[in-house]
Amino acid sequence: MFETLQPMPADAILGLIAEHREDPRPEKIDLGVGVYRDADGQTPILNSVKTAETRLLESQASKAYLGTAGAPEFNAAMQELTFADAAGDERLVTIQTPGGSGSLRVAAGILLRARESVSVWASEPTWANHVPLLGGAGLELKPYPYYDTGKHVINVEAMIDALRGAPQGDVVLLHACCHNPSGLDPSDDEWRAIIDVIAERELLPFIDMAYQGFARGVDEDAFAIRELAKRVPEMIVSNSCSKNFGLYRDRVGTVSFLAADAATRDIVDSQVNNYVRTIYSMPPDHGAAVVGMILGDTELSAQWRGEVDDMRARLEGMRTLLNDALVEKAPGHDFSHLVRANGMFCFLGISPEQVQQLKKDFGVYMVDSSRINVAGITEQNVGYLAEAIAAVVG
Ligand code: LMR
Repeated sequence: MFETLQPMPADAILGLIAEHREDPRPEKIDLGVGVYRDADGQTPILNSVKTAETRLLESQASKAYLGTAGAPEFNAAMQELTFADAAGDERLVTIQTPGGSGSLRVAAGILLRARESVSVWASEPTWANHVPLLGGAGLELKPYPYYDTGKHVINVEAMIDALRGAPQGDVVLLHACCHNPSGLDPSDDEWRAIIDVIAERELLPFIDMAYQGFARGVDEDAFAIRELAKRVPEMIVSNSCSKNFGLYRDRVGTVSFLAADAATRDIVDSQVNNYVRTIYSMPPDHGAAVVGMILGDTELSAQWRGEVDDMRARLEGMRTLLNDALVEKAPGHDFSHLVRANGMFCFLGISPEQVQQLKKDFGVYMVDSSRINVAGITEQNVGYLAEAIAAVVG
């Protein structure tokens, strides 16, 4: 049987973790996978999470099965965090999933149960795993223009033009905030213009929100979702708690469906639960129980929001620090787009060959597209990093 299989290359993002780990150079820098790091280069467990885990350990009385939809309290709290005023709407259903990827996969499965073939328009570029994940599930991916590589800006006009040409009923995949990989998000006015086209063309918005709180704030970052919920009859939202709760390995997420009416919502709910049973049966409990406890407790919730604010401020600080260092070390080059981006990522804007050279000569690791995770920058390594970049850009 297995002799028919061909070996696969390492994942473009996850492969960097092992490469960096095996590099013996003490000065090496990891700007690869999207994991938050503090000023000491550590990925800490949030204090709000630690407190909730301690309480959970004391209070948890059973490990019996949870069910296909996960924990109702967690689902309700996540719906509130995402949709605010629209939470509790009889047209809305939210279920717990194994991380954001599990959420995307469930959404893909439901779309394909609703229709034999589904086209999904995705930004060019988009998260490196969107295409294999959604394409692998059977959706047809089509690109819409987004990032202008030359100018380091997003081209909202070109995006809107492309969406205007999309057939009615097609799905549009959007990043709610902290666009991965570019870090560049539409302004609120630009979002309104994008939403106008989606509503006019009767497209189905499918929003991936993996970084809520990392761009402008927990509520501000849900702007597009909350606006869409007022304007369109149907939508899908995938949430991840990996980054904003730091629960990467615990696999915590949700998928929400807004249906045209309450009766359809009930059918979608039954379909989602049935579908989940056929793939992973039910989601893991621990991380979602932690998030549910945090969001259900006023003090822990306030503490968590403060911790998200701190992470966001550090990311912003590191962008400025690197740009300032590059102004000094690579004066002939303009890296000012670094400070215009949101969240963990942005493109450095160098060639794949220069990316390889940074890795080989300096032990600086990033995705081939030159996407960097600014959380890997510290006060200690920024000088070395800027010198390395200056050396390869010449
Ligand atoms: C990333 O883009 O680096 C993160 O979302 C992690 C991942 O799974 O790719």
